[in-house]
Amino acid sequence: MSSAVADPTLAARFEATVAAKERIEPRDWMPDAYRKTLIRQVAQHAHSEIIGMQPEGNWIGRAPSLRRKAILLAKVQDEAGHGLYLYSAAETLGASRQELTDLLISGAQKYSSIFNYPTLTYADVGTIGWLVDGAAICNQVPLCRTSFGPYGRAMIRICKEESFHQRQGYELLMTMMRGTDAQRAMVQESVNRFWWPALMMFGPPDDASPNTEQSMAWGIKTHTNDELRQRFVDMSIPQAKALGVTLPDPDLKWNEHRQSHDFGEIDWDEFRAVVKGDGPCNAQRIAHRRKARDEGAWVREAATAFASKQKELTR
Ligand SMILES: [Fe+2]
Ligand SMILES: [Fe+2]
Repeated sequence: MSSAVADPTLAARFEATVAAKERIEPRDWMPDAYRKTLIRQVAQHAHSEIIGMQPEGNWIGRAPSLRRKAILLAKVQDEAGHGLYLYSAAETLGASRQELTDLLISGAQKYSSIFNYPTLTYADVGTIGWLVDGAAICNQVPLCRTSFGPYGRAMIRICKEESFHQRQGYELLMTMMRGTDAQRAMVQESVNRFWWPALMMFGPPDDASPNTEQSMAWGIKTHTNDELRQRFVDMSIPQAKALGVTLPDPDLKWNEHRQSHDFGEIDWDEFRAVVKGDGPCNAQRIAHRRKARDEGAWVREAATAFASKQKELTR
């Protein structure tokens, strides 16, 4: 697996495959740095899916009707599935799910900053679907063509489900906007809280994103953070209008010259603090994940014992 004494033909084949926008598969030779970068990115993505179950899972028991409960339950379950596909993709690179989970719990690996914000009202379920799953789609659709095969293929399935998540969130907000004044106010308040953190989901600005250039050269990333953030802003504005909410940014306006919307300055100090672990819910999210891992230990042990027993029997 090591690339330390790389055969030049293997290295050339890798470069040619990436340059032709074809896929690198798990058994192909790849540079160590490519493998490392991918493990970090896929793990961070998998962790985000799993930690992301918490803020919305928080509302399953309090969803206002059986129908809404069933929808939310299915959505949160989809996120668990996304986490599992992605841990499997990371496994093909030689990183086990257990090892990655330990790195998450110890704080050595990160997950998306957005999931460190609390869900204070039921409208947050709709806003997360609309804005957070919406931002995830902007980020992830280009990843369907990423250079590492298992990651790209996982993304195809995930993106189909994310687009359904976005619509269910939007539909929930639409329904609330047709309701009472109190419901409309609840939606607006929720959008006010989530808009800026959703913009932060695309990561630091391009001039402060040191890994972007190499990741783009390797075909791991296909667009920069700022490009994707702009795409998300332009996409969200007409949706906000159709919904009847305002976005909490006085500097949002159409720029005829750029054929895009200008928007205000993101609070990067807040972003850095949340990434560093000082967001409103970081400690709670990790404590909850740790508890789930510890309480599930006996299930994993039993499943492992059963699997080795089966193997013995069929030998
Ligand atoms: Fe997801
Ligand atoms: Fe989702």
